[in-house]
Amino acid sequence: MKEKILVTSALPYANGPLHIGHMVEYIQTDVYVRALKMAGKDVIYLCADDTHGTPIEVNAAKEKKTPEQFIKEWFRKHKQELEAYHIGQDSFYTTHSKESQHFTELIFSRLKEKGLIYTKDIELMYCEHDKRFLPDRFVKGICPKCGAKDQYGDICESCGTTYTPVDLIQSYCVLCKNTPVRKKSNHYFFKLSSFSKKLEKYIGGNKNLQPEIKNQILNWIKGGLEDWNISRDAPYFGFRIPGEKEKYFYVWLDAPVGYISSLANYLKGDLKKAEKQWNESKIIHFIGKDIIYFHLLFWPAVLMGSDFTPPENVVVHGFLNVNKEKMSKSRGTFFTAEDFRKAAEPEFFRYYIAGSLTHTMTDIDLDIENFKARINNELVANIANFAYRTLSFANRAFDSKLSKIRDRMLLEEIERKSGEAVKAYESLDFRKAVSIILDISSMGNRYFQDNQPWELVKTNKGETHKTITDCVNIVKTLSILVKPILPEFSREIEKQLNIKEQNFSDLSKKLENHKIGEAKIILKKIEELKLDIPKKKEEEPEEPFSRLNLRVAKIKSVSEHYKADKLLLINVDLGKETRQIVAGLRPFYENPQILVGKHIVVVSNLEHADLRGEKSEGMLLAAETNDVKTVRVVEAPKSKPGDQVYVEGIGTGKKTVKFDEFMKVSIYVQENKVLYKGSQLQTDKEKLVSEVKEGKVR
Ligand code: 2FM
Ligand code: ZN
Repeated sequence: MKEKILVTSALPYANGPLHIGHMVEYIQTDVYVRALKMAGKDVIYLCADDTHGTPIEVNAAKEKKTPEQFIKEWFRKHKQELEAYHIGQDSFYTTHSKESQHFTELIFSRLKEKGLIYTKDIELMYCEHDKRFLPDRFVKGICPKCGAKDQYGDICESCGTTYTPVDLIQSYCVLCKNTPVRKKSNHYFFKLSSFSKKLEKYIGGNKNLQPEIKNQILNWIKGGLEDWNISRDAPYFGFRIPGEKEKYFYVWLDAPVGYISSLANYLKGDLKKAEKQWNESKIIHFIGKDIIYFHLLFWPAVLMGSDFTPPENVVVHGFLNVNKEKMSKSRGTFFTAEDFRKAAEPEFFRYYIAGSLTHTMTDIDLDIENFKARINNELVANIANFAYRTLSFANRAFDSKLSKIRDRMLLEEIERKSGEAVKAYESLDFRKAVSIILDISSMGNRYFQDNQPWELVKTNKGETHKTITDCVNIVKTLSILVKPILPEFSREIEKQLNIKEQNFSDLSKKLENHKIGEAKIILKKIEELKLDIPKKKEEEPEEPFSRLNLRVAKIKSVSEHYKADKLLLINVDLGKETRQIVAGLRPFYENPQILVGKHIVVVSNLEHADLRGEKSEGMLLAAETNDVKTVRVVEAPKSKPGDQVYVEGIGTGKKTVKFDEFMKVSIYVQENKVLYKGSQLQTDKEKLVSEVKEGKVR
């Protein structure tokens, strides 16, 4: 019996349009599946819309739709886009289906039976205004680590720290902007921790995984796996947990189950058959690098724990950048799949992406100029024009009839190269496959050019006829080889060649004494790509305050500088560290010891300096009257050492700043308040103060 293979792409959320980043993954999977099919393998390509979770429920409500209506509309649009890009999924289904519910409940009950699920109370963020628990992405606030504003509840996009929503400073509900409260709730946990050994074996022993991924996952396992919360509180759009009224399965539990239910859909709803076939097949998932944890830890553990076969391979690709930068709506480099296909043939995009893909996690760059150049010079000028040139010559000079092969050696060399291209497809090195194809096409063009059939035909029609027969065979080879990438183009060439659908096994067959059809131009060069990519805007001048990183520090001790009578050596506690700061305060404090115990403010990222033989690791903020007779430290009495000091609406610095950069920032006091551009400096606990009523701060 032939080995059965199931191939999947990650399920897109039914929550917005597909963009060209999604398309990279579908193209990678589709090219692979088409190549396997052409090699005679028994493979099924599965995908579905991922339809559950809070964002979908919330967005549906915003549009005054039921979640069911909402996901149905996205399903239709997704399907349309997939078709436009010739993504040949054998089943594109939805996770909001009875098959998905069946398998999710089945898996859950098996895990429960085996004691792999338990419940416990946990504390979560709850919005009393919206009457809902807030998932990580629905809480925002100030990063507890770097002080960046408006960060989500799971990760700071500015410094990369991960935390939970309760750690955020001044957190607020994304929906209503009110401050959430902490509230307890009972949840279901999957004992992922008990799978460490099994997963280690599963990952460590897997020969298919990309090595960099393997290492990353083995490190995660070594670092300790935490049990996984697989439930969510109502309101939620998903499957209700059996026996519960207000609890649902977390979307990430039922999402990958969608792979199995998509197979069930392919098998016309036969659940038993789907389970059997899943377990008898080799399963290959294609995913982006952002969801490795789910696919290589949670999912295999869930499958193993419920007697399903875990994946044999998980192919991970990088992200798509546009003109070397992260796709971004604000920069105008975010393209939906629809935008892009309105500007360029979907097969052009397939060609460009395939030509950029290797079996690595490296990001791909869609460089618009390079895109145009590669389509025009490689695909159109090299491959497509060769086909047209050859076939139209055969039409004209030989009434579309072929004779016999002439240059057997050349065709054998091409056959050998073709074998390499097929191997490159199977090993997911599409860039190599494309490069071999271009090589073959160049050989064909050279052969045509060198033999000058337009001249030769005048003197030796027989030889010319054979030469053209060779060229037609090279066209056939090219059309077979590019077929996984350009199925439409290939089909058109097959039509023009008047041959049936070709597979890789047809690469060794020769077309002789055959009558071809009429040559037509299939692809034309791109004159202008109608995409508005705005020119890079002038960078806005940076807000100088945002370079500073100000933190609260507690003075531990004060002593005099032995060489300089104006300077004090001040030892401060910055929360996680202690530092020595040298400050010119001696003339202003009759008894400097009264400073001990004060909570002051330090420029923590100031370049360290040597002040007359003593090192100064930062600088403290002090206010001075305009006559500079009185100088007093700036204080934050209610804040803790290490607390971030900030100004509403301005970020904080991460890099070291120089003294003169600090001096450019004019902080001042008015009515004992410490201000920058009219806004008060503060921590999350209080506004800063100074004993100086009015003056400058330095
Ligand atoms: O990250 C995502 O877009 C998810 N919708 C992918 C789910 S893949 C699978 F697990 F269902
Ligand atoms: Zn709210």
